[in-house]
Amino acid sequence: MNKRIGIGLLGLGTVGSGVVNILKSAEGRNPLVKQLDLVRVAVRDIERSRQVHIPSSLLTTNPQEVVDDPRVQIVVEVMGGIEPARKLILSSIASGKSVVTANKSVIARYGEEIASAASKAGVYVLIEAAVGGGIPIIEPLKQSLGANRIERVSGIINGTTNYILSRMAKEGVPFLKVLKEAQQLGFAEADPASDIEGIDAADKIAILSGLAFGGSVDREAIPTRGISDLNALDIDYAKQLGFCVKLLAVCECIDPGTTEEESLPLGIRVQPTLIPFDHPLAGVNGVNNAILVEGEPVGKVMFYGPGAGSGPTASAVVADILNIAGINQIGEGKGFTDPLLSASSWRLCHIADPKKVVQRNYVRLSADDTPGVIGSIGTCFGNQGVSIQSIVQFDACSEKAEIVVITHEVSYGQMHKALIAIDSLSEVKGVSAHFACL
Ligand code: HSE
Repeated sequence: MNKRIGIGLLGLGTVGSGVVNILKSAEGRNPLVKQLDLVRVAVRDIERSRQVHIPSSLLTTNPQEVVDDPRVQIVVEVMGGIEPARKLILSSIASGKSVVTANKSVIARYGEEIASAASKAGVYVLIEAAVGGGIPIIEPLKQSLGANRIERVSGIINGTTNYILSRMAKEGVPFLKVLKEAQQLGFAEADPASDIEGIDAADKIAILSGLAFGGSVDREAIPTRGISDLNALDIDYAKQLGFCVKLLAVCECIDPGTTEEESLPLGIRVQPTLIPFDHPLAGVNGVNNAILVEGEPVGKVMFYGPGAGSGPTASAVVADILNIAGINQIGEGKGFTDPLLSASSWRLCHIADPKKVVQRNYVRLSADDTPGVIGSIGTCFGNQGVSIQSIVQFDACSEKAEIVVITHEVSYGQMHKALIAIDSLSEVKGVSAHFACL
């Protein structure tokens, strides 16, 4: 069969332009690309000059026209934001059209609603581009790793912050300077809050968590901390101790004894994290992303590649289009498995009480350089059962000292109590930094 397949595009920004570029240069790609016809494109401003040429007859400022166009079989949503994107996705599904979306904000919050609507309508919603840019991670979690009991998924899943942290570490450049350069290079958005405050990474880990553990969690309850208050001093001290600092997103089962009938407690968080130089995630620099999946029986599998940008993200979008187009070629309904998540919710999951989540810690304390101060700090940690792996004094001058402590694994609850006690010591000026540590 050699059917033509009509594509409607919602959004012609960085990712949309990348999709058009692939569709326009089909030579040497999967032959199915030649069967895709771009028939309608929704943009915000028709007059604006663009990176790609599109006949003006295809353009509209009304996205609903794209959804309603009878020639459109697959709606590609790359406009971003929650509304009207969510409504347009649901409207496409209601019209019996499959959807490809890169929209992590919508999927992280409304994935269940969308999956259920798609399942009822018998259409597909594919989301490979929502996490990790060009890295295939959604389909592997849904399919190739489907036989595993997943224990942990952790990753560097925001390219902008990884670019900033890599440059801060390599060149010792301050945060705001690198951020400005990242914006000039087009890596960071004009409003970078979603990237630098960890919101983008939290959306993505919510999606990965649902796929890995079989149930969605309350997206808004994910403990999230970005890099905007990160001090270059901590990157330097971490380096001297054999670590790099990355914005790490983690989801892990914190009670493997939970039965299938019980809700699975998940330790999910996004936070700056010290990573030992010999850890596979430590070598991930620039806008690259990497996701480490740990499961039984597979062991550890790492997915690595460009996590943002026009070409890489469009690569994932067009792969999803081809997936749906391929199924359409076989025949309606044939090969149909599950529209959104082949792992669509098969068990209950919830975000565990953050106080019960166990991790190693890096703490920097500003203190008087007086006899006994390290002993007093050690006592506060000991009283809460926090075991210290190393304690180092940096930059002692004028009787002031920076004391850096790396702990063994302890619960956040224990750590929090110990830090309150330390903060109240008269010789300690304050807890200047506190991060996770692998
Ligand atoms: N802003 C994201 C990042 C790319 O920097 O990784 C889109 O997901």
